[in-house]
Amino acid sequence: MPAGVIGMGTYVPEKVITNKELETKIDTSDEWIQTRTGIKERRIASGEIDTSHMAFNAAKEAIQDANISPDDIDLILVATVTPDQPFPSVSSMLQHQLGATNAAAMDISAACAGFIYGMVTAKQFIDSGAHNNVLVIGVEKLSKIVDWEDRNTAVLFGDGAGAAVMGQVSEGRGILSYDLGSDGSGGEHIKQDEFLRMNGREVFKFAVRQMGESSLSVVEKAGLTKEDVNFIIPHQANIRIMESARQRLELPIEKMSKTVDRYGNTSSASIPLSLKYDLEHGKIKDDDVVVLVGFGAGLVWGSVALRWGR
Ligand code: COA
Repeated sequence: MPAGVIGMGTYVPEKVITNKELETKIDTSDEWIQTRTGIKERRIASGEIDTSHMAFNAAKEAIQDANISPDDIDLILVATVTPDQPFPSVSSMLQHQLGATNAAAMDISAACAGFIYGMVTAKQFIDSGAHNNVLVIGVEKLSKIVDWEDRNTAVLFGDGAGAAVMGQVSEGRGILSYDLGSDGSGGEHIKQDEFLRMNGREVFKFAVRQMGESSLSVVEKAGLTKEDVNFIIPHQANIRIMESARQRLELPIEKMSKTVDRYGNTSSASIPLSLKYDLEHGKIKDDDVVVLVGFGAGLVWGSVALRWGR
C-alpha cells in the first residue's frame, strides 16, 4: 500500500500586517510589493505564540481530520528553521504536548523545501513498514529572524503552520514519485546571521530554473506526462517564480495554488497551508494528480507528485 496524506491541519496567527502598514515603517509601497511579489498581507505571531504553539494547533487539526488519536502517531517530523530553541526539538515538545506517547520525534532543516523533505522521509518509513502514522509539519515563525528595517526581506515573509498525517492509502493513490536535491555552493545567497539575509536576484534565478526542472522530473519519474497533471502547488515565495513553474507544466492559471497574497512566504509552512486551502476550496478532488514543489535556503529543492485521496 502506498504512502499518502490521510489528514490535514493548519494554523495561522490572527494578526495581519498589510503592505500599507509596512509603507509606514520602511521605504516601500503596496504597489511595489504586489507587482514584484504578489503579496498583499502576511500573518505575524505575537510574542507569546512560538513555533511549537503554531505546530501544535495545526497538528491537532490534522490528527482529528485523519480520524486517529495521538497514540496512533508513531513518528513526528517537524520541518522548521525557526524552532523555539535549538533543543529540545519542536517535534519532541509536540510529542509531549499532544500526548503522542508512541511517537519518535525529530526536526528537519531544509528551509522552504522542508515540508517536501518531511513528506519524502515519512514515505520511506511507511514504505518500509517501520512506521504507520507519521505526522509531518511545516512551521515557521520567520518574524523573529526578519530584520524589520531591511526592505529587501521585511516585505516577503510571514508566520504559520501546516500539518499532514501520512499513512497508507489505497493502491494507485499517494506519493507517486519525488525529487530532492541540494546545491550548497549557493548557500551564501540566503542565510541567517542575527537576521535572515538574502540576495534576492540570485535566489530568484535559482528558483525559476530549479522549480521548473524538479516539477518536470517528478512527472516523468511517475511515468506521467504534463497532460496528466491536474494541479500544482509551488512554494509560495513570489508569484513570478510560481508562475514559471506553472508554465513549465503548461497548466492554466486556475490550476495553480495561490496563497502568497494572503500569507506571504511562510517557508516550510507554505505548501501545506496551500494544500489545505485548495482542498477546502474544492480545487483538488480525489484522484487528481498534484505536483508539490519547493526550494529554499541551502540551496535546496524538493518536489513530489501524488495522486490525491486516501
Ligand atoms: N520596496 C521597494 N523597492 C524595493 C524593495 C521594497 N520592499 N525591495 C527592493 N527594492 C528595490 C531594490 O532596492 C532595487 O532598487 P535599485 O534598482 O534602485 O537598486 C529595485 O527594487 C529592484 O530590486 P530587485 O532585487 O532587482 O527586484 P526583484 O524584481 O528581483 O525583486 C525580490 C526582489 C526579492 C522580490 C525577488 O528577487 C525575489 O523574490 N527573489 C527570490 C526571493 C525568495 O524567494 N526568497 C525566499 C527563498 S525561499
